Amino acid sequence: MKSIFRSPVAASVLLALAGAFSGGLLRGQSASAGTATSQAQLPQPVNFTAQQDQRNMMEQLGIKALRPGPSGNEKAPNHANYDESEANPFPDLPDPLTLKNGQKVTTAEVWWKERRPEIVEDFEREVYGRVPKDVPKVTWSVKATDKEWIGFHPVIAKELIGNVDNSAYPLIDVSIRMTLVTPANARGPVPVLMMFGPSHFPAPAQPSAEELERINAALKALLVRQDPALSEIFEQHPAYELQVAPPFQMPQLNADGDPPSEWEIIADGWGFATIDPVSIQADNGAGLTRGIIGLVNKGQPRKPDDWGALRAWAWGAGCGLDYLETDPAVDAKHVGIEGVSRYGKAALVTQAFDQRFAMVLVGSSGKGGATLLRRNFGEAVENLTGGEYYWMAGNFMKYGTSDATFGSKNASDLPVDSHELIALCAPRLTFISYGLPEKGDAKWLDHQGSFMAAVAASPVFTLLGAKGLGISEDYHAAKMPAVNVGLLDGQLAWRQDDGGHTDAPNMKYFLKWADGFIGHTPPE
Ligand code: GCU
Repeated sequence: MKSIFRSPVAASVLLALAGAFSGGLLRGQSASAGTATSQAQLPQPVNFTAQQDQRNMMEQLGIKALRPGPSGNEKAPNHANYDESEANPFPDLPDPLTLKNGQKVTTAEVWWKERRPEIVEDFEREVYGRVPKDVPKVTWSVKATDKEWIGFHPVIAKELIGNVDNSAYPLIDVSIRMTLVTPANARGPVPVLMMFGPSHFPAPAQPSAEELERINAALKALLVRQDPALSEIFEQHPAYELQVAPPFQMPQLNADGDPPSEWEIIADGWGFATIDPVSIQADNGAGLTRGIIGLVNKGQPRKPDDWGALRAWAWGAGCGLDYLETDPAVDAKHVGIEGVSRYGKAALVTQAFDQRFAMVLVGSSGKGGATLLRRNFGEAVENLTGGEYYWMAGNFMKYGTSDATFGSKNASDLPVDSHELIALCAPRLTFISYGLPEKGDAKWLDHQGSFMAAVAASPVFTLLGAKGLGISEDYHAAKMPAVNVGLLDGQLAWRQDDGGHTDAPNMKYFLKWADGFIGHTPPE
């Protein structure tokens, strides 16, 4: 429930009044007996801790022991490697343009028909997991529409709910939360950037002074009805208001002193949608028997090639796009996806697998995102197979094993690497963004490893008639450009800004770059 009543006094008063005057049934209290009986016959969702769930997957895979991941704390004895001379234990990457049968891919046709499907299959089976064939339908509804202002521009904000059909397993409910915000004065459908993160009305419109006066008068009358003696207090304090207008607050500027990303997006004539990942799938291992993954599995643990949280979040973004395709305010051919950190990984996974997304802004994604899995700098594969295992398919855990029925495996055994994930985005617009370690975009993320991956993905963009990073060196030798020096001429772009663990300072560069390619002109 969203309430305009911000002050605790007013909120609790209202609750008390609701109780005093309702007397009816609480919502959901009626006629559920029939459903309850049939639900009792269903298997209950398994209640594993993350450790139990991980153990269960290790048993399914015949894994006895995992190598521990390094520590992010540079003072710890087992800290991650930060020595560039030791960062490439497996320097050669699988070639995105060589088929498994050894033949070179020299035409776009062979890429689309043969090589891309090979790479998709490897990523689905071994890395991020598959979206099940029988994933239930999502029905979107507009919960509320609000007229708001963002950075002095009028906007229309819609609170949306995507209800996942759970008739096959009513013990798990999944409702995807998304908010769509579009400029109110747009002359036609606008490009939209979908962003992973909390979803709510960004700038809820407040009642006017006159409306507040009426609300206060009504509240006082209700209170006096409850306790007539209160009228004396109200008479003694005629200026007292139960609900006061919130003071105007300037927005938090981003790390470069620019307005917040949402302001920049709206000022550029785009819309944005915020989609809440945890309304799709929990960000922890214990949640794998719930959320969309648990719903499809009827509350039971995953199989080795089932999807992990990153792929589930990406699927949810695709469902969000299904809605956007039906909204006349949106230019659905120009919808992008954005996220930072773990959500930067999810944004890249979304763009790689769902070709309806026209562009991506990948913020500080690191391992499991744009950074090469084969690199040994900062976060390692062993971290992703350790506490972070639930982001990935179960099968991915094999690459962090020291003892298993199949022996042991490491990053070099992976059939694919992150340059091929980036290549799956080609020739669509793909912007890889980082900040500065000194400002909090930790070395742990391995910026250089992401840059090498983008360089190694570039030939696929070229093959498809687009432009990659335009670096002449091969990925083995390529070095990141200086901070704030963007490589923004191609459909694949790179920019490390001078902010921290955020992509906000890169937002204006992203918008300008994307506008150029899609032919969008910002309003005057
Ligand atoms: C950890 C994790 C990263 C991840 C980050 C985040 O640092 O190791 O892989 O990107 O958390 O999402 O905040």
